Amino acid sequence: MKNSTTLTGRDQDSIWHPFTQHGLGRPLLPITEAKGSTLRDETGREYLDMISSWWVNLHGHGRPELAKAISDQVLRLDHVQFAGATHEPAVLLAERLLEKACLTGAGRVFYSDNGSTAVESAVKIAHQHWVNRGTPRHLFATLCGAYHGDTVGAMSMGRSSGFFEAFGHLLFETVTLPVPLIWKDFANEDEENEALAEITRLMESEGESLAGLIVEPLVQGAGGMRFHSAGFLSALCGMFRERGIPVIFDEVMTGFGRTGSFFAYQQTEFLPDLICLSKGITGGIMPLAVTIASNDLFDSFLGNDFSRALAHGHSYTANPVACAAALASLDLHESTGSLEQVARINRCMARHLGLLSSHPKIEKTRILGGIAAFDLAGTDSDYSAGAGRELATMLQGQGVLLRPLGNVIYLIPPYCITDKEIDRAFEAILSCLGK
Ligand SMILES: Cc1ncc(COP(=O)(O)O)c(C=O)c1O
Repeated sequence: MKNSTTLTGRDQDSIWHPFTQHGLGRPLLPITEAKGSTLRDETGREYLDMISSWWVNLHGHGRPELAKAISDQVLRLDHVQFAGATHEPAVLLAERLLEKACLTGAGRVFYSDNGSTAVESAVKIAHQHWVNRGTPRHLFATLCGAYHGDTVGAMSMGRSSGFFEAFGHLLFETVTLPVPLIWKDFANEDEENEALAEITRLMESEGESLAGLIVEPLVQGAGGMRFHSAGFLSALCGMFRERGIPVIFDEVMTGFGRTGSFFAYQQTEFLPDLICLSKGITGGIMPLAVTIASNDLFDSFLGNDFSRALAHGHSYTANPVACAAALASLDLHESTGSLEQVARINRCMARHLGLLSSHPKIEKTRILGGIAAFDLAGTDSDYSAGAGRELATMLQGQGVLLRPLGNVIYLIPPYCITDKEIDRAFEAILSCLGK
């Protein structure tokens, strides 16, 4: 113990950070305040939050509407266990989410508290539904390069992401499907047909043992902001639907407008059996997650004894304060016109990407909704590789906060960001690339 007195020094004496190699001794940002799209550190330096604080913040930091909602709720009802009790914020939020997902009367909301547990719940529901039907299956299909979170089930679904080498023996078996990526133009028909043919062959040999398919619809986030087409996704999911195999859409990152529609699945012709939501659900201020399940799946758990029930739950399941934040966030989507904001952000970032695309150090520029990305040409794509990190460090010096994935640079700003702020971020990128 060094008895440090600065915030970062005290942190280094007491905290173990996520996805961080402490041995490298990289400096930490001591953030003290946040408002709108801007974070401020203890010296008063400001940083544009171009990654929405790990993709959670939607309406900007420091929203009084969200602050009031959670403060009122704490004084009314702060928490109650959610097995054997219920409360208005949880019921109202479930009703509003089902309505948004066009599933009123056709689905059920299961609460948990982060993206990984939303995925664990979905995987367990799909798995146990086969057990309850008396035809157990346990093999899940996933897309190559997928990431679904850090708990053991979620890691198993995302084992091809390359993040979890150290945990190989803990993970359960999955089948990895090819995913044809699209970069500049939205057509990759030859590769898509090849991938679908390969998946058709697999369905013929393994179809009877598959318990479910899980996908990040349209964008694989942590795997490197990799896009695939809605047409491919619809065709893929259709094959599983034909065989009665549940399809899980992990919309933890894509939900709540990020891809330009409220949910990414709305850009496909496919209504999934299970939808995982978290991150932006509370506007980015409280941990909360939901797994929406079709009524068919829910019904398969009904019976007269506990053995058919879903044995899953967390202490903070459906926390009323988090639900109140989520309800206030849904109101903000309406009052601020969040989808129009995303469309504006898309136009502005597309203009900048267009200019950047001829830059010799950049390749694979891509954009969908409020997510823009490009790769640093000719550099190592490994997650811990240096080129992206070097650029991010330079950008931080210019007051722009990014967190590259290897050599993939992406921007996913809060919806309140102004065009001027976006201009500033891209000008900083251009100036750093010059160096
Ligand atoms: C698609 C997707 N699923 C699940 C998760 C896990 O969410 P959490 O970090 O809240 O556990 C993430 C996190 O980045 C994600 O992008």
